[in-house]
Amino acid sequence: MRNTIDPQYYELEKGSSWPSWNDFLNGAYTDDEIVNNELDSFVSRYAYTVHKELDIDNHIFPLFPPLLYKLHYPFNYKILKPLIDAKINSCIQNSPNVGGNNIISMAFDHSGTYPHTWPEMHGFARFINQAIEEIKQKNLMSESTHTISSSWLVKSNEGGFATEHNHVPCTFAVVAYIRASEGAGKLVFRDPLEYHKGNYPLPSYFPEKMLRREVEVRTNDVLIFPGFMYHYTTPHPNKNDDRISFALNIHCDMPEPDTYHLHED
Ligand SMILES: [Fe+2]
Repeated sequence: MRNTIDPQYYELEKGSSWPSWNDFLNGAYTDDEIVNNELDSFVSRYAYTVHKELDIDNHIFPLFPPLLYKLHYPFNYKILKPLIDAKINSCIQNSPNVGGNNIISMAFDHSGTYPHTWPEMHGFARFINQAIEEIKQKNLMSESTHTISSSWLVKSNEGGFATEHNHVPCTFAVVAYIRASEGAGKLVFRDPLEYHKGNYPLPSYFPEKMLRREVEVRTNDVLIFPGFMYHYTTPHPNKNDDRISFALNIHCDMPEPDTYHLHED
């Protein structure tokens, strides 16, 4: 039973101080909630309270909600392939500098015909919108609106790869693999807390290994992550099959208030 602690937390909402450590140790919560590890109990208590008051399922503040989501969507490659080829070819012809080179081709333009607006992609766009709604909740952004602000296609031939980059200022980035056969390479993320881990014991033989996470990718994998996360791809090793990825940028914004009340003194 947690009834005995409720008043404290209502006070907290009004801006009073947090309960002290002694409050917790002196019976501010009941015995059945005291677990062997007192620190765990302390943390879980705050987590419970915030969950109850703010209706979230994370810690005091969701400092570390999941950063990377891996979903699956059944793309119809047979239908999409001619559209993708045409889009990439037209982009290369119109903007050879943007189009890429002989190992990687990008279809990125600002003409308003982003691939996510194709009728053949409507189902996928709905799928992404639903996923973003859930991810926003975990990041305390449920009140915000979101839009898919741009999207582009990348075709990697043998040896093709993307250098390290992020998607700032977009809030979330999506990378979907429309085509990625077995062994098609990896998407590698850099630990966003890298600069804060200067005192962590890193292996001297390869410290970078601790700060990166490699994610295998296959056809129909959909990865969603914050736009601030640095990432890159390993070279596509397969000369018999292209790797085709579909990237989308998601922007989240808080809605403007309807009216502003101006007061004259
Ligand atoms: Fe990217």
